[in-house]
Formats: sequence, C-alpha cells, structure tokens
Amino acid sequence: MAGHTSPGAGKTRHVASSGASDASRGSREIPKRQNGRFCKWCKSPLDWWARQDSKFCGKRCRQASWRFLVCRAELEQTDRPMSFAYADPPYPGKSHYYPEQREVDHASLVDRLTKNYPDGWALATSSESLRDVLKLCPVGVRVCAWFKGPRITRSKRALVSWEPVIVCGGRALQVASPCTIADGLIARGRFRAFPGAMVGMKPPAFAEWVFHLLGASRVDRLDDLFPGSGAISRAWARYTSAE
Ligand SMILES: C[S@@+](CC[C@H](N)C(=O)[O-])C[C@H]1O[C@@H](n2cnc3c(N)ncnc32)[C@H](O)[C@@H]1O
Repeated sequence: MAGHTSPGAGKTRHVASSGASDASRGSREIPKRQNGRFCKWCKSPLDWWARQDSKFCGKRCRQASWRFLVCRAELEQTDRPMSFAYADPPYPGKSHYYPEQREVDHASLVDRLTKNYPDGWALATSSESLRDVLKLCPVGVRVCAWFKGPRITRSKRALVSWEPVIVCGGRALQVASPCTIADGLIARGRFRAFPGAMVGMKPPAFAEWVFHLLGASRVDRLDDLFPGSGAISRAWARYTSAE
C-alpha cells in the first residue's frame, strides 16, 4: 500500500537527553505550544504564533485544499431530503491491499444497500469483477464508467483503464434545461496530496460525479460505508456546504 506522510507530520521536536536510557533516548517528543486551532486540511495543530485568520499550517496544505475541487450542489427545490450510500469496498480478490485482509461479502453488501438505502446507492467495483457483482444487483441499476487511464506496466493483455460504478435509484434530475451529467467520467486517479491517501482512494472529481449521478442535493445525507482516507466524506461536506 502506498503510504502518505501527512503534511502535519513533523510538528513536534525530537530531543535526546544525555542521561536517558537507550529506550527513551531520541524518542521523547516535546509538543510545540499551540493555540487550540487546527489546519483545515491536515488537521494538525496550528503553531501558536499563527495569525488569527490562518486556516492552514503551511503553503502545501493551502494549495492541496484549493486543488481538492468539488462544486457545491445547486440549491434546487426538493420534495424531501434523501438518504444515499456510497460503497467502495476492496474489489473482489483485492483485499490483500488493506489491513483487514478479508474479502467483503458482496452479496450481503448489495442486500444491505438495497434494504437500507431505498433512495439510492452507488457501488464501486472493478471491471474484472463486474460480471459477478452485477448479478447480485437488483434490476434497473446502471453501470457507469470512470476512465482513469491505464497504469503503465508490462502486461499480456490490454491494460485496465476504467472502473465501473453501479448506481441504483437516486433523485430524478431536473429537466428544465439540457442535462449535463453523463454516465461516464474521465478523470485522473488518486489525489496524492490528501492526508491519508491510500490505494483505492477516489479523487474529488469522482466524488462530485457520483453525487451528481445520485441527483444528490444539499439537504440529503450520504453514508460512506468504506471511508478509507475519508476523501468522499470531505468532498460531500464541500458539496453540501452553504458557503
Ligand atoms: C477502496 S478503499 C476505500 C477508499 C475510499 N473510498 C477513499 O476514497 O479513500 C476500501 C476501504 O475498506 C477497508 N476494508 C478493507 N477490507 C474491509 C472489510 N473486510 N470490511 C470493512 N472494511 C474493509 C479498507 O481498509 C479501506 O479503507
């Protein structure tokens, strides 16, 4: 798994005291004084001398936050708030990428999605397992395609360049103007500047696209069933924020 060092790391000073035992030598940490405020991006404490209007611990976090682009949901009339789920489990046969090291039972996952989220849900999977996963889904689901481009490597077969997202239900889109939401997205993969970026992490453009596929509005709720890095929840917070 490709790890990511949080930009907030290194916010402590390491000191070695000459009389310390080997076990403690060099590992004692003295936290910098801080002011109870936290970086909006990496969540690490802001330095105590940071300006009152500082939101980020540094340039790197400020830029990463700006690049994590998610549009705000249109403020449209909705008959009622809806409750959606997004499920991004380890793809079948790929659980070894994650600490759980356990395959997710997709039959019971689809069952849970269908029973608990009648308003709509989206399930990410791999093109390789689409045939098996689709068989578990209710009639009427749509297969949408995220083209993220191939990862260049040696291969006896054509490189995989896309991932399916199975969408069930969702709010009907407005028909007053031509539709701008398509069942395919072309967007690059992982957003490496995200704190906790990990294998399988989805980029902000993907999150926004899934919200649109579900017809989600600001008043709705979205449960991210396999949060991983937390990128989808952060994107949802931006999508539904009234700022
Ligand atoms: C594909 S990643 C989710 C990525 C996430 N959507 C993101 O954008 O960062 C799958 C997540 O499910 C977790 N996971 C793996 N096996 C699991 C299991 N058997 N039960 C529950 N969660 C599991 C992994 O640790 C990982 O955080």
